[in-house]
Amino acid sequence: MKEYLKTDSENIDHILEMIKKQSVEYLDTLADRPTSVNNTLVSEKGDLLESGFGTEETLKIFNQRFEPIMVGSSGPRYLGFVTGGSTPASIAGDWLATVYDQNTQSTSGQGDISANIEIETIEILLDLLGLPQTFLGGFVSGATMSNFTCMAVARQWLGKEQGRDIAKDGMSAAIKILTATPHSSSIKSLSLLGMGSGNMIRIKTAAEDREAISIQDLEEQIIKLNGESFLLISSGGTVNTVDFDDFKEISRLKEKYKFWWHIDAAFGGFAACSDDYKHLVSGWENADSITVDCHKWLNVPYESAVFFIKEQYKILQVETFQNSNAPYLGDPLENFGYLNFLPENSRRLKALPAWFSLMAYGRKGYQEIVDRNISLARKFGQILAESNDFKLLAPVRLNTVCFTLKDESGQDKVNAFLAALNDTGKVFMTPTFYNQHKGIRAAFVNWQTCEKDIELIVEVMKKIITDLQD
Ligand SMILES: Cc1ncc(COP(=O)(O)O)c(C=O)c1O
Repeated sequence: MKEYLKTDSENIDHILEMIKKQSVEYLDTLADRPTSVNNTLVSEKGDLLESGFGTEETLKIFNQRFEPIMVGSSGPRYLGFVTGGSTPASIAGDWLATVYDQNTQSTSGQGDISANIEIETIEILLDLLGLPQTFLGGFVSGATMSNFTCMAVARQWLGKEQGRDIAKDGMSAAIKILTATPHSSSIKSLSLLGMGSGNMIRIKTAAEDREAISIQDLEEQIIKLNGESFLLISSGGTVNTVDFDDFKEISRLKEKYKFWWHIDAAFGGFAACSDDYKHLVSGWENADSITVDCHKWLNVPYESAVFFIKEQYKILQVETFQNSNAPYLGDPLENFGYLNFLPENSRRLKALPAWFSLMAYGRKGYQEIVDRNISLARKFGQILAESNDFKLLAPVRLNTVCFTLKDESGQDKVNAFLAALNDTGKVFMTPTFYNQHKGIRAAFVNWQTCEKDIELIVEVMKKIITDLQD
């Protein structure tokens, strides 16, 4: 092993050249790469060896066993879940984040001060999203962790409202949580935080065919709480139909009642980049905390998301996340270090891919990506709405098309249709259930998707419908 470590480090130039060559080949053919494969792992399992193979031989083994199961999930026709791609600049930043291998914590002092890059990236992101610099932000692994981080601080705020320090003493009484259509990751966060995934007061939606919260019902439920503080989990783009809560109306309620307002804007927050759609997030600056995912519409590699929490809650944030039995780490309020402001202690320089991409493409670059994705989603939605075989389950409000088979008696065929579609490897979509219907979701958040992809997708879909009818 020792020997290979030595020869590998002497041959790092050659190793990186090999990886570069393979990466370029992959990226150049990404659009044609299957979006789904049926292969299971090729050949026998790898075991821990006494002496290893060295990197060159290990790459061969990777290419033989694992490379064939790598799907084009960052390619233009992978419309499943809400899966972004990686811009060239973000790949460059990600590579350098690995090479520089910083443990990003502090902005000053001795040793690693790469947190300055993270702080700068947060400021640029706030600017991109039209949010004020009154938020303190940081990078976590995904929107799930961002929701978790925001709600952890909300929990501390709610405890303080009831005269308790939950971070120190634990939960001893239930917290009121109001929400209409939260993403499953918020519910998971409630469970992780001991707030209870089943402990939500469900507010009605604005209408039967909407996922946005009914402001009227929300206010009625608030009144029933008789002045008790609560957590409101609201949506800046629901995952199924991309419905937005009315942030202006919630801002109005926030002036009247006492609550922590969290917005999950994992991907919908990027509506702020579009002149035509930024009204959807109007008023979100009044929230106490916001979740935004960068590995979705910012198109940086996994794992990247940010939390924004109003800086005025800094002390609550530190109470929640500080390493309280480690005095050698200094006073968290004096020496800023991310390890006292978010769940993880050690972290890579997660902000660097986002910093690169934001610097490389700027406001205009992101406006173009967001606007193009929205217009493609609308076009795809229109084709489906006008077809004989499909119907929309909800209007295309932003970048996601939620649809099903037109023939009501064909509901049992939805899964078969989707399985056949994904089996082609040319496009990938995910199943959903909405308004008593089995449905399919196609989310457009990839910078490479273009009109030609829509044509190809429609062609493939028509063929499958014909095959299913035969
Ligand atoms: C609205 C919303 N919130 C949270 C998440 C969870 O994101 P992640 O998988 O990055 O944790 C998603 C994922 O699609 C989402 O759409």
